[in-house]
Amino acid sequence: MAGILSLVRRLFPHPAPGESAEISVRDAYDVPRQRWPERPWLTVCMIQSLDGSIVIGGTSGGLGNPTDQEVLVTMRSVADVLLVGAQTVRAEGYGVPSNPRLRVGVVSRSGSGLDFATPLFESGRAFLVVPEDAPEVPVPSVRAGRGEVDLASALAAIEADVIQCEGGASLNGALLAADLIDEITMTLSPMLVGGDGPRITARAPEVTRRMQLAHVMEDDGYLFTRYVRA
Ligand SMILES: NC(=O)c1ccc[n+]([C@@H]2O[C@H](COP(=O)([O-])OP(=O)(O)OC[C@H]3O[C@@H](n4cnc5c(N)ncnc54)[C@H](OP(=O)(O)O)[C@@H]3O)[C@@H](O)[C@H]2O)c1
Repeated sequence: MAGILSLVRRLFPHPAPGESAEISVRDAYDVPRQRWPERPWLTVCMIQSLDGSIVIGGTSGGLGNPTDQEVLVTMRSVADVLLVGAQTVRAEGYGVPSNPRLRVGVVSRSGSGLDFATPLFESGRAFLVVPEDAPEVPVPSVRAGRGEVDLASALAAIEADVIQCEGGASLNGALLAADLIDEITMTLSPMLVGGDGPRITARAPEVTRRMQLAHVMEDDGYLFTRYVRA
């Protein structure tokens, strides 16, 4: 794919004297991650504009560049399962991941409004993550909580070492509220976009949780950051 094996410029950690600042996206992002005894490691992969929006015209596509795509593909290669909010699946027409070992968990209160005739669901690689009292659905499901998904219990029930959450804002907010975010790979796009687009999390209660900076890379004016649970 375009941009594959891109080199990015490492800004942090600072290269040692005499060491090249250039590093491949794979070397930057394909680092060891370990599941917790009780649940998988949860990493969130998002892109935002300079003024904090995660969308242009309702989707994220216009914010990125080929290197950001490569970050997404690389992070998908280190994950066992993708987790996505139902609204992102509806808004972005979520397709089947090219990596054949990846499964996709779609989080929803009821599964309503999701099109189970799309390639994503027909591939057999997607499952729903719904509350125990949600109606029957025509695809496999993980069930936890009542009324809405108890995300900690749901993650514990998913067979995986690493789960990559790909948004959107409300699912990220629910994960933050449950203190389940272990890592954020956040690309800062060099775009000002205005509008009233959501930020990376929505609807979470106010929290003050400091994350630890793991790296900052630069390419073509884009900053590629990685923060982990401090
Ligand atoms: N820039 C980026 O990197 C990026 C990445 C992803 C998405 N996006 C954008 O973000 C937007 C979507 O974000 P969003 O906040 O509107 O929606 P979202 O987080 O994708 O999905 C929200 C839906 O997820 C389900 N959900 C979330 N938490 C739940 C819980 N605890 N229990 C049960 N269900 C739960 C509900 O589904 P039901 O409605 O089915 O009950 C809820 O309506 C889109 O415009 C998309 O393009 C941007």
